[in-house]
Amino acid sequence: MTTAQAPIHLAGEQAAFARGGNRLIFIHPEDADACIKVQRPDRSPARKRAERRFPRNLRPLRHFDDNWQEQRVYRRLQHHIGSASFDYVPRLHGPVATNLGPGLCSELIRDDDGAISLPLKQYLWLHGQSAALTAALAEFHRGWQHLGMPSRALLLHNLVVQCQGGVPARIVVIDGLGWPQPLTPAWWCRPLARRKARKRLAGLQRAILRLLEKRERNEPYGVHGWLEEAGRDRT
Ligand SMILES: Nc1ncnc2c1ncn2[C@@H]1O[C@H](COP(=O)(O)OP(=O)(O)OP(=O)(O)O)[C@@H](O)[C@H]1O
Ligand SMILES: [Mg+2]
Repeated sequence: MTTAQAPIHLAGEQAAFARGGNRLIFIHPEDADACIKVQRPDRSPARKRAERRFPRNLRPLRHFDDNWQEQRVYRRLQHHIGSASFDYVPRLHGPVATNLGPGLCSELIRDDDGAISLPLKQYLWLHGQSAALTAALAEFHRGWQHLGMPSRALLLHNLVVQCQGGVPARIVVIDGLGWPQPLTPAWWCRPLARRKARKRLAGLQRAILRLLEKRERNEPYGVHGWLEEAGRDRT
């Protein structure tokens, strides 16, 4: 007889190292190089569906579940693009059961000193656009465009800057993957995918400039994408 595995114990909402608009992000208690994402209790798929208008509110509940969506996108990534994607996105380990509900486990992006990598938004706010960051972004643009990587708008809090020796070395997209229309021909037509990826990259460039201007004007940072130093788990 097989026994079902006990759910992974996460030490409550306040133990999350980050909180997105939809999910809480935890370090995997048994694997420091993995994270587990669970839905925020106040952002359940049922609640999100109830907020949508007709006809979107007729879609099955799983369409409002970020973890389900992300797994579907990763299956497509693997099929259409393959392992080259993992230069630019974390590896997905798969679904796990937790005491806080269903979770999705993936590679946790850390700097080479062990600290959890900062979101691009926070990095720009703290350090501005250094030469090393410009070079890492240029390499990201090149690869993302070449592969025709599928994404919604590339938001500054959904990219992280992985540093080596204290300087940016690699940009990784940790959320917002997949074309907005699941059946778009871009999945099968690489030139179309590249054209769309180029537009997303142009949008990212504009978002960087807007953030730097906001910083110049001493305006507030905004609600999303700040990782407290203590939460970076520098071990
Ligand atoms: N694999 C990862 N490696 C490092 N940091 C991560 C990873 N995944 C998430 N994070 C951190 O957690 C934050 C929130 O994660 P994520 O964007 O997945 O949550 P979300 O609720 O889906 O976001 P959104 O508000 O865009 O819907 C990110 O901004 C990032 O700082
Ligand atoms: Mg996000």
